[in-house]
Amino acid sequence: MSLSELRDLYVSRGIATLHPLTVVRGKNARLYADDGTEYIDFTSGIGVVNLGHCDDELIAVAEEQLRRLWHVCFAVAQYEPYVRLAERLSEIAPTGSRNKAALFNSGAEAVENAVKVAKLSTGRPFVISFLNSFHGRTYLALTATGKYQPYKFGLEPFMPNVLHAPYPYCYRCPFSASYPDCGLTCLDYLKRWVFGAQVSPERVAAVLLEPVQGEGGFVVPPLDYVRELRSFLDQHGVLLIDDEIQAGIGRTGKVFAIEHFGVEPDVITLGKALANGLPISAVVGRSMLMDAVHPMGLGTTFGGNPIAAAVACKVLDAIGERRLLERAVRIGEIVAARFDLLAERFEIVGDVRGLGAMRAVEFVRNRRTKEPAASVTEAVIETARRKGLILLKGGLYGNVIRLHPPLTIEEGLLEEGLNRLEESIDEVQRQAR
Ligand SMILES: Cc1ncc(COP(=O)(O)O)c(C=O)c1O
Repeated sequence: MSLSELRDLYVSRGIATLHPLTVVRGKNARLYADDGTEYIDFTSGIGVVNLGHCDDELIAVAEEQLRRLWHVCFAVAQYEPYVRLAERLSEIAPTGSRNKAALFNSGAEAVENAVKVAKLSTGRPFVISFLNSFHGRTYLALTATGKYQPYKFGLEPFMPNVLHAPYPYCYRCPFSASYPDCGLTCLDYLKRWVFGAQVSPERVAAVLLEPVQGEGGFVVPPLDYVRELRSFLDQHGVLLIDDEIQAGIGRTGKVFAIEHFGVEPDVITLGKALANGLPISAVVGRSMLMDAVHPMGLGTTFGGNPIAAAVACKVLDAIGERRLLERAVRIGEIVAARFDLLAERFEIVGDVRGLGAMRAVEFVRNRRTKEPAASVTEAVIETARRKGLILLKGGLYGNVIRLHPPLTIEEGLLEEGLNRLEESIDEVQRQAR
């Protein structure tokens, strides 16, 4: 039986896979399939392997830790990699305060626990998140997620006391306004119609914000939106939980994407790239808030696993040692310049946007009406795969291609991948005519 047949027999249909590929090996930005085909990987396992696949230095750290101690559970006894990672994250988290951290397994779990911290430290029951957001698939994280299909479909009832506000998605402004003339209509809506009409500010523990929406299609909020939101929350003692699970760990050219906006969050969630693919996540925040939780109020069997924590410390070293922030900026410049040309050349390209190395193309049927073109997006992804390029989609309508190349990708390979993407868009546009 082929692997695909076995998969169909034994893997739940709920677990879907974008590309019909069996991958057997990876090295930096290259993936190799079981038939020997080589692919350029512009997904990094959904924004995870910032240092590329199977990095030798990380392998050495993982191997050493594996031989020494690979599980003990922090609830049983403490061990050094956990404490060291907590120290490192606390030192760099841009909250403007002393920090503490707690380690978990997945992004969703970090989000759940960040909300626990917010509720226990404020004594308030409500949380506000954003439309078109993604925070994970466990029930609170899923409730906070602002996209119904496919994640939330049929899974009601959701958690109570979670409200959604419009995200400043300027290309598709829900108020049909245009920035900056709008004067931040969406923020006004949040203040009057979410905080004012649906809940009083003194009942809200936190606002949960992606500094750049990831799954939502790399939507970057205006600087003044984030700043004014922060000052509004300060006025009312509402915490800002900064979900850096996709945008953090250097991907935007800063260790934390929120640093671009010059505001200080109270609590931060990290995951994905933290250990370059070993499962680990973190909540780091102001010490006073993190300590508002009673002993045993947080924890998990595997969270902060010694191997993953040791590798995460090495990933943090590598940000400086390998100049990953400069790499992210450089990748962003190269991709943005190419994407601007795509926007000029192709009618099916409605918008190009991003921050640092997070760059996306949004496809439309018609530039004037901005009708989303999901099937065109899929066709581009399939065409690119035939050309040996692995891409990732996103966006509320599944009509965005978001680029997540490893930050260590060779520049020649990046250019080659971009050539293949451009050729694919060209082919699809010509067929669509
Ligand atoms: C911003 C953000 N938060 C949370 C999550 C959930 O992370 P995980 O899939 O590790 O549970 C994701 C995953 O894509 C994400 O992008």
